[in-house]
Amino acid sequence: MMRVCSRLVLSVSLVIFCLIGLPAIALAQPAPAELAKAVQEIENLDAMRSGLAAYLEDATEPPTAETMRQVCKPVGMKAVKLSQDNGWQVKQMANKYRNPAHEPDTPQAQMALAKFEQDTDLQGFWASATLNGESGTRYYRRISVEASCLACHGGKGDRPQFVKDNYPQDLAYDFNVGDLRGMYTVFIPEVKQALEAAISTS
Ligand code: HEC
Repeated sequence: MMRVCSRLVLSVSLVIFCLIGLPAIALAQPAPAELAKAVQEIENLDAMRSGLAAYLEDATEPPTAETMRQVCKPVGMKAVKLSQDNGWQVKQMANKYRNPAHEPDTPQAQMALAKFEQDTDLQGFWASATLNGESGTRYYRRISVEASCLACHGGKGDRPQFVKDNYPQDLAYDFNVGDLRGMYTVFIPEVKQALEAAISTS
């Protein structure tokens, strides 16, 4: 009798274990809708910068210090907003960075930049990642240099005065059209993925 009983307890606990364990399997990948949203937001962000840079290039009046600032700074601000709104961590990174906050933050990020450098057809990819001890998934998306970028990322001496003044350790110059400028990254923490999974199954 005892034996039957303990077997029963064992199988019940096995079932419970599996039920609890299942969402953990679902956690390995964020919901496809969330991945699609991250991809779309990054496309929007990139289009915003291209649009602002092209507008500046086409402007008939000489750009003022103020209009000059309105290209890449807003991209950084939008990245912060996207992070806050979605529970992600959205960042721009580059080996030749202008703002030191955009230095690659993990060995994986360095490898991702090397991958983009080697494979010029690679536009973006996902990989598992650990950030500040938290595990999750990270999206990496290429940033390419366009003609309109050269006004501020071209020859060292040709950089606008505000860049020379504000970024004494600037490395983000001497680029050519088509070069890899850097990448966007979107980190989706597993905790967030767990919440999404719970919401979608309830
Ligand atoms: C009007 C000047 C200007 C133009 C034009 C411009 N940038 Fe920038 N860019 C900057 C400045 C200033 C920063 C640093 C912003 C900051 O402090 O976060 C920057 C930063 C960046 C960064 C973040 C990494 C880093 O180096 O700090 C990327 C990526 C970037 N630019 C790409 C581009 C691309 C791509 C284009 C063209 C589509 C472009 N930029 C056009 C001025 C410009």
